[in-house]
Amino acid sequence: MRPLKPNTFLQPRENLEEVIPAEGPGQIGKEEREAIESVLADGTLTMGPFVKKFEEDFEDFLGVKYAFAVNTCTSAMDIAAKLIGIRAGDEVVLPSISFVATGLPVRTLGAKAIFVDIDPETFNMSPEDLEGKLTPRTKAIFVVHEDGHPVDMDPIMEIARPRDIKVVEDCAHAIGVKYKGRPAGTIGDFGCFSFHAKKMVTTLGEGGMLTTNSDEYGAQVGVMRTFGWAEVPPCKNEISGEMEAADNISINGYAGCSYPMTDVQAAVGSVQLRRFPDTVATHRRIAAAYDEALAGIDGFAPPVVKDYAENNYFRYRASFDPDAAGVDRYELSRRCVEKGVCCGIQFVRPLYTFRHWREVGHNWGECPVLEREANRTFYLPVYAGMEERHVRRVIDTLKASIRELRGK
Ligand SMILES: Cc1ncc(COP(=O)(O)O)c(C=O)c1O
Repeated sequence: MRPLKPNTFLQPRENLEEVIPAEGPGQIGKEEREAIESVLADGTLTMGPFVKKFEEDFEDFLGVKYAFAVNTCTSAMDIAAKLIGIRAGDEVVLPSISFVATGLPVRTLGAKAIFVDIDPETFNMSPEDLEGKLTPRTKAIFVVHEDGHPVDMDPIMEIARPRDIKVVEDCAHAIGVKYKGRPAGTIGDFGCFSFHAKKMVTTLGEGGMLTTNSDEYGAQVGVMRTFGWAEVPPCKNEISGEMEAADNISINGYAGCSYPMTDVQAAVGSVQLRRFPDTVATHRRIAAAYDEALAGIDGFAPPVVKDYAENNYFRYRASFDPDAAGVDRYELSRRCVEKGVCCGIQFVRPLYTFRHWREVGHNWGECPVLEREANRTFYLPVYAGMEERHVRRVIDTLKASIRELRGK
């Protein structure tokens, strides 16, 4: 068995004129370099003052009571799952489409996953399908704000709250996204953010944040994140004879983890957060250019934006009707990639069809709406470093490829 190198679609910066990637690297500029220098001058390298500052900046940015910096979004979801107390015998609702990370803590803790079909317009969890899939054993619901469009949260919270089902928002795509004016990551019990290299805010390639408005969880997250290290009633150390008031504890039977963020990462995170209004404005400008261009191409339509949504266009997912377009989606995607524009097929396959889920009885066919709609999308590249000429090249390449394929 050999590990695969992930993220081969991320192009090094110097290649950007040659190949336009599906998702680009984050913008690292002078301010980020200066921030790194100030950490090195300070000398505290991990879980120090810059981490604290980044957490406070994030709390202010989101308007949330607690934000805890961690090493990845996947780790944030792992902590959330353990604090909820998910274990074998529980059922946990998962989205049918997401990156595999959303389901990993649930699979690892041995709970039974229940996959919910999508709203065909947004690709987010369908509250109607969710309703029919709950049982008395449902312990938690994980939602993902796919591509940076918010989930319809009210019906989900109305289903969850009276049953004491906990809700985890996977906000890996959803920094700065709002649902009816409320920021994604502040509506459920937990919000989990990613600062991976291809995200709209990056902490030097990896990083995450776990947010909550709950005082109880707020007291537990920091403990879990750092080895389970907590204040406890004083207890005698039999070697030194001293009374010690700190110890490594377990919560819900789970021992702690070590998911730290370094101060260099955090200092860059604070700069990136300040830069975020520009980043999201760029994503919106690119989306508007695509909206306009697609209006003139048969078979394509811009992404639906619901009236409750303030999305961030983390990704641009056009809808695609192969009959009206007169071209095959896969052929079109391949043709564009040959011309150096990575677009078309972002979506790989439903979450429940990955091997680790098939091992426990899941398989193709579980969520028919997703499986039908998945072939009716066409993704166009969006990233903060994209300039006018890159956007033009994407549009021209798409049009030329369609013309060539129709003329075949
Ligand atoms: C929806 C979603 N959730 C979680 C993750 C994992 O994020 P991280 O790499 O920070 O663990 C990703 C990564 O791309 C993602 O797209």
